Parts: sequence; structure tokens; C-alpha cells
Amino acid sequence: MDQYKLVIQGERPLSGETYVSGGKNTSVAVIPAVLLCDDVVVIENLPDIEDVRVLRRILEHLGAKVSFDAEQSRMTIDPRSVNTCEVPFQYSQQMRASYYLMGALLGRCGEANVGYPGGCDIGSRPIDQHIKGFSMLGAEIEECGGLMRFKGKLSGSVINFDMSTVGGTINVMLAAVKARGYTVLNNAAREPHVVDLANFLNSMGANIKGAGTDTIRIRGVDRLHGGSYTVIPDQIETGTLMIAAAATRGDIAIHGTIPTHMDALTAKLLEMGVSVSSADDVIWVRVKRGHRAIRLTTQVYPGFPTDLQQPMSALLCRAGGRSEVNETIYDNRFKHLDEMRRMGAKVTISGRTAYIEGVPQLRGAPVSATDLRGGAALVIAGLMATGVTEIYNPSFIARGYEHLEQKLCSLGADVRREEAE
Ligand code: EPZ
Repeated sequence: MDQYKLVIQGERPLSGETYVSGGKNTSVAVIPAVLLCDDVVVIENLPDIEDVRVLRRILEHLGAKVSFDAEQSRMTIDPRSVNTCEVPFQYSQQMRASYYLMGALLGRCGEANVGYPGGCDIGSRPIDQHIKGFSMLGAEIEECGGLMRFKGKLSGSVINFDMSTVGGTINVMLAAVKARGYTVLNNAAREPHVVDLANFLNSMGANIKGAGTDTIRIRGVDRLHGGSYTVIPDQIETGTLMIAAAATRGDIAIHGTIPTHMDALTAKLLEMGVSVSSADDVIWVRVKRGHRAIRLTTQVYPGFPTDLQQPMSALLCRAGGRSEVNETIYDNRFKHLDEMRRMGAKVTISGRTAYIEGVPQLRGAPVSATDLRGGAALVIAGLMATGVTEIYNPSFIARGYEHLEQKLCSLGADVRREEAE
């Protein structure tokens, strides 16, 4: 149980201007990728979030020299002093993306001993496709003492993923970038952070083509140099802020975005009657009337992202009519709706589908965050509700959102931290 809770006084329309931070899911791939470089790397636009802090501790454990200027959103990593390829379970279990240490260390040292990853409990999250990819590249794999052990001199191969997997695509790309010869990843994930990681690696000397399509071709190189790189803005934070504006019937501008990354969400908000427009790196969200119910199905990029399903389904709890939300990526990503029932939400869950009957009002209540995006969904519920909402275990939110409370308060919300009893 966290020592603090979030207390939200609801029903305040958001208005004004804000900005989006660097992407979490890009950052947690780029930081391990630095292990493949032979010189110092400076990463710009890195968000000050718990997952980034955990990765910093892991890199320091491996022997890298790391400094992080949170004010400037800049991390400097010198990987030359790395002296081990082992990441014990007490580190790896602190986050999901610790699995990228497998591909990065394997690519660097020809060996990686990494504990099982942790992360949000949103359903079963196997990594069989990562392991299949490493094996196709020539790694031998065994499990021993709670560690997954990978070893081998890697050479290029053709890998056909059985499903579109972001983590699998990135991890195998990390392992293949310095493998001998030519690797082809078929049925690769196309998410923006896959493209951003490929751009990072290419800017350090890698030869990767096709990222953003479902076929990625990698010609192995002997070395990657150092340099500096700026990570892309966070697509999910942008979407969460857009949904928060819609939920409070607000009027906001979000700066520093890539609007095309938001097309799937924008289309659904327009369908609900929300006004969304964009120019250059700014997105404006305005609401003039009540929202209409919609049907929503999560899909891989460029479809509607599962990571925005939870904030969006919170918003739908107050839309006029009956919404249907189909979650196709994870088998247990509706826990926030159970919490929201205590706030008056009318929801029926059947397997991976939630049927949401919009209600005119939600009432503030004590609720508990159970995962990162579910926590953000409860913040949105609290912003919409009458009275006071208390969110327990809010540290889930700090794992992936930089300064969310401050950003919301600067837009006129009343969100504060208080000691949890
Ligand atoms: C990444 O998780 C993100 N995490 C998730 O972000 C995001 O929800 C997910 O991609 C989908 O977009 C990071 O980038 C660190 P997947 P990942 O491999 O890579 C199945 C957030 O809130 N699968 O694309 O773990 C899997 O079970 C989070 O920021 C296998 O069966 O997701 C799931 O059903 C949470 N075997 C589906 O594929 C495998 O080997 C997609 O998973 C790999 C995946």
C-alpha cells in the first residue's frame, strides 16, 4: 500500500495549454539499447518516471556510468565500463521492459543472464516470441536459478512472429543489430516506439530498414558509435490528456505531440462528438456538448491502442447510450471498471468485452489503482465525478506518467497528494 493517495475534487473543466513528455515505451527500449554502443550516448527528452529510474539502477548495476538531469530531461550513459551481463531478479521484476536487457546484453556480450520481468498485471504476458527469435539467431537458452540464460554467437535469420508483438520485435531487433549477416523480421510490430528505436540504432550506425512496416530487415554491423538522440513524445500520455479534456468538457491545447500517432483516438473522439484539431505539433481538444456512446476495439498500431482503452472506457461511463469495448490484446484489462462501479458506473463485463451504460453523473469515492493505465483511468473518473475521489496506490501512475498531477493542476484541475491512512 502506497504511503500517499491522490485526492481529486471533480467537475472542473480543464482549460489552457500543456505539453507532452518523452515517450515511456520508447525510453525503456532506447536506454537498454545504449548497451550496444561503444561510446557515450546522450538521450534527450527522457521522461522523469519510475520505469526510467529503475532502468538507470539496472545499468549502474551492470557497471555503466549514468547521469540523469531530470530538469533537462537528459540522460548521459557511458556503457564502456559495463562488466557483467547478469541482471538479477530483484532488478528485473521491478518492470516489464527489463526484458530488453536480454536482447541488448546478448547483442553486446553474446551472453545474457536476466531474471523474469515484472510489470502491470493486465493478463498473461508470455515472452515465447522473444525467446523464439533469440533461438533463431543462434542463442542457446536455459533457465537456471530464476534466471533465463542466453548464450551464443549470433548470426542473421528469418524470424516469423506468430503475432504482432512490440516487445518481441524490439528485443529481437536489439539482438540482431550486431549479429553476423542479414536478419528479416516478418509480422513485425509497427508501433511508433518500434520505429523510434530503429531510428536511434540507425543514428548510432546500425543498418535497419522497414521499421514501421511489418517486415524489418537488419544487416548486422560490427559496432555502434555514441552520439545523442531525442526520443519521440509519448503517444499514450498525449491520449490520456486528450481524454481528460473531453471528460471534463474542457478546452485545451497539447504541445509537443505527433498528431498522426493519435489518429485512432482522434477518430473515436470525433465519433463521440468531441472537437479535435491539430496543426504542426499541437492538438486542440474542445467539448461543446455531451458525448455519444461508441463501439471500440483495441488493435495493434495503427488501430486503437490497448494502452488508451482504460482511460477511454472511463470516459465512456458518462457518454449518452450504451458503449461496447472489446479488448483484444490482453485478457484482464478492465479492473479499473470494477473500481468505477463504486463511483456509480454501470458496467457489465463478459470475457474481453465491457458493456458500458452511460450515466449522467459519477460520484466521488475511494478507489484503488491496480495498474498504470487503470490508475490514469481512475484519475479521469475522479476529474468527471461530483465530490471527492480518493485514489489509493497511485504509484502505479508515476511509473509511466511524468508530472501528471502538476500538468492537470496547471490546466485547472484540483488534484493533490495526501498521506494515506
Ligand atoms: C508493450 O508491451 C508495451 N510495453 C505495453 O505498454 C503495450 O500495452 C503493449 O506493447 C501493446 O501495445 C512496453 O513497451 C514496455 P506485446 P509488450 O508483446 O511488448 C502476446 C503500458 O501501459 N505475446 O505487443 O509486452 C501478449 O500476451 C503498457 O505502457 C505473446 O503471446 O506487448 C499480448 O497479448 C502495458 N508472446 C500481445 O501478444 C510473446 O512472446 C501483445 O503483446 C509476446 C507477446
